[in-house]
Amino acid sequence: MDEKLALSLSREVAKNVLKAINSIPAGRRGEFYEIGKSGVTKLVDKVAENAALEVLKKEKLRILSEECGYVGEGDVFVALDPLDGTFNAVRGIPIYSVSLCFSDSEKFGDAFFGYVFNLCNCDEYYADSKAYKNEKEIKVGEKEKLEELNAIVYYPDRMLPFKRIRALGSAALETCFVAEGLFDCFIDLRGMLRIFDIAGGVYILEKAGGIAVDEKGNSLEKKKFEIAERVNVIATNKKLYRQLLELVV
Ligand code: IPD
Ligand code: CA
Repeated sequence: MDEKLALSLSREVAKNVLKAINSIPAGRRGEFYEIGKSGVTKLVDKVAENAALEVLKKEKLRILSEECGYVGEGDVFVALDPLDGTFNAVRGIPIYSVSLCFSDSEKFGDAFFGYVFNLCNCDEYYADSKAYKNEKEIKVGEKEKLEELNAIVYYPDRMLPFKRIRALGSAALETCFVAEGLFDCFIDLRGMLRIFDIAGGVYILEKAGGIAVDEKGNSLEKKKFEIAERVNVIATNKKLYRQLLELVV
C-alpha cells in the first residue's frame, strides 16, 4: 500500500463516519451499547467504528481499533480511532475527530501515513513525507520561552508558567493543533492515552517538524499498536521539548 491509497481510504473512512454519526437521532449518541459479553461502549463510538471498518475491511489490513481490538489480516497495520473525543461528541461540544495511522509493522516507528479529520468543521490533516491541513503544508511553531506558550496540558498537579493553558478533549486533534502552530505544546502525562488516540496526530506533528516524546524523553518509535498499553506524551517543537520535560516530569 502507498500513501495515495492510504489517503483515499482515510478520506472514505472520514466521510462514512461523518455520515453515520450524523444520522444518529438527536440525544441518542450517548446511549450505552453492549459489545461482546463483558463490555459496553457508547452508541456513537460503535456507529463510528462500524462505519470506519466497513471501508477499511475492503483492503487487506491488520486494524487495531478502539472498541473491537485487532481485526483483519494483512501486512499493513492501521491504528484507528473511529471517534476521538467521545465526551465532546455526546455533549455536542464541537471538537472531535477520526484518526488513522498506517504502518508497515505493528510499530509506530514504521508508520508511513497519518490522517486526522475534524468531524465538526471538516478540517483535514494528513502527512506522508510532509504534513498538510486542507492541502496546505503546515509547520510547528517556533516559540522557545515558556511564558509565551499557548499550551494544551493534561497535568493537574502543579502550577505551570505558560501564557495560556487549555484542554480540549480530542488528543488526535490537539496534536494536530500543535502541528499547525495553533498551540505550542500538547502535554498528557496522566497515563490514560492509548496509541490509537495519538498515532495519526503524532505522525502528522513529526512531519510538520515537531517532536513527541514520552515521560522519559524517548520518542514514540518503539511503541506498538496494541490496546492495553498506556502512553504519555509531550508533543511540541524541537527547541522546547527538553525544557518541557524538565518542567513537568
Ligand atoms: C479520549 C480523547 C481525550 C483524552 C482521553 C481519550 P476517546 O479518547 O482523546 O482527549 O483526554 O484520554 O480517552 O475515548 O474520546 O476516543
Ligand atoms: Ca480516542
